[in-house]
Amino acid sequence: MEISKRAGRIPPFYVMELLEKARMMELQGHSIIHMEVGEPGFETPGNIKAAAIEALSQGKTFYTHSLGIPELRQAISDNYAASCRVKVPPDRVIITNGSSGAFTLLFNALLEPGRSLSLSDPGYPCYRNIASLTDCAIEPIHVSAEENYEVLPGHFDTVNPPDVLIIANPSNPTGTVYRPETIAALHGRLSKTGSLLIVDEIYSGLTYDIDFTSSACIADDIIIVSGFSKAYAMTGWRLGWMIVPPDLVRPLQKLAQNLFIAPPSVSQYAALKAFDSTEELPRMRSVYKQRRDFLIPRLRGLGFTIPRIPDGAFYIYAGIENFAMDSMVFVEKALAEAGVAITPGYDFGAFRASSHVRFSYADRLENLKEGCDRLEAWLKAV
Ligand SMILES: Cc1ncc(COP(=O)(O)O)c(C=O)c1O
Repeated sequence: MEISKRAGRIPPFYVMELLEKARMMELQGHSIIHMEVGEPGFETPGNIKAAAIEALSQGKTFYTHSLGIPELRQAISDNYAASCRVKVPPDRVIITNGSSGAFTLLFNALLEPGRSLSLSDPGYPCYRNIASLTDCAIEPIHVSAEENYEVLPGHFDTVNPPDVLIIANPSNPTGTVYRPETIAALHGRLSKTGSLLIVDEIYSGLTYDIDFTSSACIADDIIIVSGFSKAYAMTGWRLGWMIVPPDLVRPLQKLAQNLFIAPPSVSQYAALKAFDSTEELPRMRSVYKQRRDFLIPRLRGLGFTIPRIPDGAFYIYAGIENFAMDSMVFVEKALAEAGVAITPGYDFGAFRASSHVRFSYADRLENLKEGCDRLEAWLKAV
């Protein structure tokens, strides 16, 4: 039987394709520098791993409540109270299977044919790809360096507001950290038409030289998605959360029961210790900043254009106009000929995608240096 039209329409997540290809080349003996994937170059902090071992030895390996264990929902609520002095009742916190699980639940709950989702282009590709399974209309908003890659409220002066707008703060691939005034104005603009705003704060622990304001502090009807993957170096534990308005909890619970049954149990008990990792987090952040501060001048020196310094996440969205090559060709050749894996702009949308690539600086500094040396030699030869 043929697969459904919906599934057939889903494009690959190029960065994962590239990673899989790079890993295959490594198995064949090639040396590859990974500047493609958003995988923290750190192990999960020791206290979190120890809590997981304890949970295992205590046999905490069963299904949990579909919305997550109450202790973790409470810990997340307490963390918002402590870090941004905002009261988020634990019954509005839903634990999910990675933040990816939250998008699946939210889009199924909110989108359908006849409804629309707006998102930024360039932006995180999985929003569009997951939402496309609901057959809703997807409306990309072009963002450029001149506007610091922010979706601005003025956009909706000429375009009808969507049913749902999703933004990432900090953003992937541009590293933009939204000004709280922009988010407040976007929320105000969307509220006029009853539209919902979702803010993905998965990179919230990773901002440099700039304060981060969670949108939970801006309005209590903004839906927040976040998780442990990035700032807590827990990608493989598949654990995230969302904060939703009270009337959405029950519909999301029914979906969660059916789609996931429950978030992973051992990961949840381990994550109870995540907010205690007070030393590791700032240390990881300062290492990422050091990597960013190395990479930007080095890439500019090689001819990449980087009009704005990214303030958060661990990505640099760079222009390749000087190399007269399509970004897909550029990344394929860089992988095959220089042994450097980079993500093409096409992963993040269509707007100026052919002339951009994304570098991740999640990997170790010595590898980033080696990657740049390889690119330099390769660019001289092409
Ligand atoms: C903006 C953004 N949101 C969500 C995710 C997925 O995170 P998780 O591991 O929590 O599913 C990623 C992963 O790269 C991301 O870049």
